[in-house]
Amino acid sequence: MCGWKNGIYIVLALMLFVFSVYTSVTLAEPLSDRQTRLMLNNCVQCHTKPILGAPLIGDQKAWQKVFKKGEELVLKNVVQGIGSMPPLGYCSTCDEADFRALIKTMSGLPAADQ
Ligand code: HEC
Repeated sequence: MCGWKNGIYIVLALMLFVFSVYTSVTLAEPLSDRQTRLMLNNCVQCHTKPILGAPLIGDQKAWQKVFKKGEELVLKNVVQGIGSMPPLGYCSTCDEADFRALIKTMSGLPAADQ
């Protein structure tokens, strides 16, 4: 009886382990708490509203198009502003590493496609 139940837990633990390895390999680095706050206070305000024309959070197709420009140009556009997006996306306390992490997270794309 007991052996059967333990077996289930071992299988569950294995599945969890495999899943955590899989997600850490394929997804972008998770944001720090600070970066999550920066995103919620700034980027989210526009990048969730289709009417503004910003690539929407998690809209992988839209972000794939953006990433075709190359990471450096995209970063420059964010810093200088592009179209109706203000310079720095309003985030005056974001540094370069923050922007790179925020952009990757917003895209929702696996690391290989970024
Ligand atoms: C005031 C609204 C607004 C805010 C705030 C904002 N964005 Fe944007 N963002 C836009 C719009 C609109 C576009 C589309 C611009 C275009 O292509 O004309 C855009 C485009 C982008 C792009 C694509 C640039 C490119 O080269 O095509 C990136 C990357 C981006 N935003 C990142 C961010 C990040 C990171 C934040 C938060 C720090 C942020 N945005 C905050 C409105 C905003």
